[in-house]
Amino acid sequence: MTGSGTNFGASEVESRPRNKCGGKLYIKTYGCQMNVYDSLRMGDVMKPLGYAPHDSFEDADLVILNTCHIREKAEEKVYSELGRIREEKQKKSARGEKMLIAVGGCVGQAEGEEIIRRAPYVDIVLGPQSYHQLPEMVTRAIRDGGGVVELDFPAVQKFDLLPESTSPQGVSAFLSVQEGCDKFCSFCVVPYTRGAEYSRPVNAIEKEAKNLVDQGAMEITLLGQNVNAYHGEGADGKIWSLADLITRLANIGGLRRIRYTTSHPRDMSDDLIAIHGSEPKLMPFLHLPVQSGSDAVLKKMNRKHDAAFYLDIIAKLRKACPDMAFSSDFIVGFPGESERDFEATMQLVKQMNYAQAYSFKYSPRPGTPAAVEEQIAEEIKDERLQRLQALLRDQQTAFNESCVGETMPVLLMRDGKHEGQLLGKSPYMQSVHVRNAESLRGQLVDVRITGAYLNSLAGEIAYTEHKIRKAV
Ligand code: 5AD
Ligand code: SF4
Repeated sequence: MTGSGTNFGASEVESRPRNKCGGKLYIKTYGCQMNVYDSLRMGDVMKPLGYAPHDSFEDADLVILNTCHIREKAEEKVYSELGRIREEKQKKSARGEKMLIAVGGCVGQAEGEEIIRRAPYVDIVLGPQSYHQLPEMVTRAIRDGGGVVELDFPAVQKFDLLPESTSPQGVSAFLSVQEGCDKFCSFCVVPYTRGAEYSRPVNAIEKEAKNLVDQGAMEITLLGQNVNAYHGEGADGKIWSLADLITRLANIGGLRRIRYTTSHPRDMSDDLIAIHGSEPKLMPFLHLPVQSGSDAVLKKMNRKHDAAFYLDIIAKLRKACPDMAFSSDFIVGFPGESERDFEATMQLVKQMNYAQAYSFKYSPRPGTPAAVEEQIAEEIKDERLQRLQALLRDQQTAFNESCVGETMPVLLMRDGKHEGQLLGKSPYMQSVHVRNAESLRGQLVDVRITGAYLNSLAGEIAYTEHKIRKAV
């Protein structure tokens, strides 16, 4: 879980006089891709008020921390970052300048007023459903000297009220199609912080997708906390599934790749499984969290599926699309997890052979049912996490190594670490480093994989080779 400054296009503007809207806007994003998307949209919302992106909180006029509440550490990181920002605010204040600080996202939603009590220099607290009201909140905070808290849940309104135009996101873009979750896994804060499931209408999504493609996107990742539960109003007024939506978006000419994340096994419907076999633009990689391999733990987690159900879905997906690769999330040390339960997780991982996966120690979240259960000792959690991560690392390395010698389409996205190197993305979400490819930046090209590491692949352009072969 990393934080990153968000740059959302446009150029810098001069600092404005005190008590006026506009100026330099710094947004720091924590957590999931939905937050990355929300940060971009916050930038879009603030643009008309004269706020332009700035890449650090130093000298910023408005700082927004777009936070994540899913695990404990992320929340503590927010408070320590606020401490650093406070010093900058004080420095600015000594110069007679103003800095507004806003805390948005899921920590904002969950903690509310508590944030202002703990960090009284914070001016605005808002939840993920209220950021369309940011301009009004900022104006109020400037007028009243802070203390603005907005935690309403008008999800429908939010998407309707956001500006239609979106900032360019480059060749690979995110698009939120669904929000919230009705699953209530017993460890998870999402149903409380993001609220009930809501699906955007197909027309609005299609418009946004076309806009992104016009601005250069070749790959779009459809986002939702429970994205495969998507059931939005279709172009014909009927309810459409995620499969219907993907089929529609696949008609957009310049769009070359479609992905979706994050999904729940229960919502992996037959039509969605089927289009993995029939829609070439849909990438053969799926993040489908299972959380645990033990049926007893899955029951306590209120996951509404057992291990066999999950494996059956995977088998159907592999049948529909034989070169499909998988990723998952795991929680170890969930209350009541015995050594045998943990072994069942290890067994499931061995059976699955993941291309990649995330694993976490259970972190009790206030207000969720599992938080009040008897907890597993920290050392046991640590030890299990290490064992699981060692296995997952081996699988990831083996998967990467299995790609060596293959030629695969890679979307060349940006500069690599070394000079003359570009970084691209394989169909399976692997980072691919390619040398001497500057002229192909932003393109989807065939790359022959020449080397494999834990977290990346090395490759060379296979494009010329094809051309020569065709010419011969
Ligand atoms: N403790 C640890 N991990 C959690 N996740 C969600 N809630 C918790 C928690 N309380 C993990 C799950 C989820 C991912 C986004 O974060 O694995 O799929
Ligand atoms: Fe949280 Fe995902 Fe479970 Fe919903 S399905 S409660 S978002 S873990």
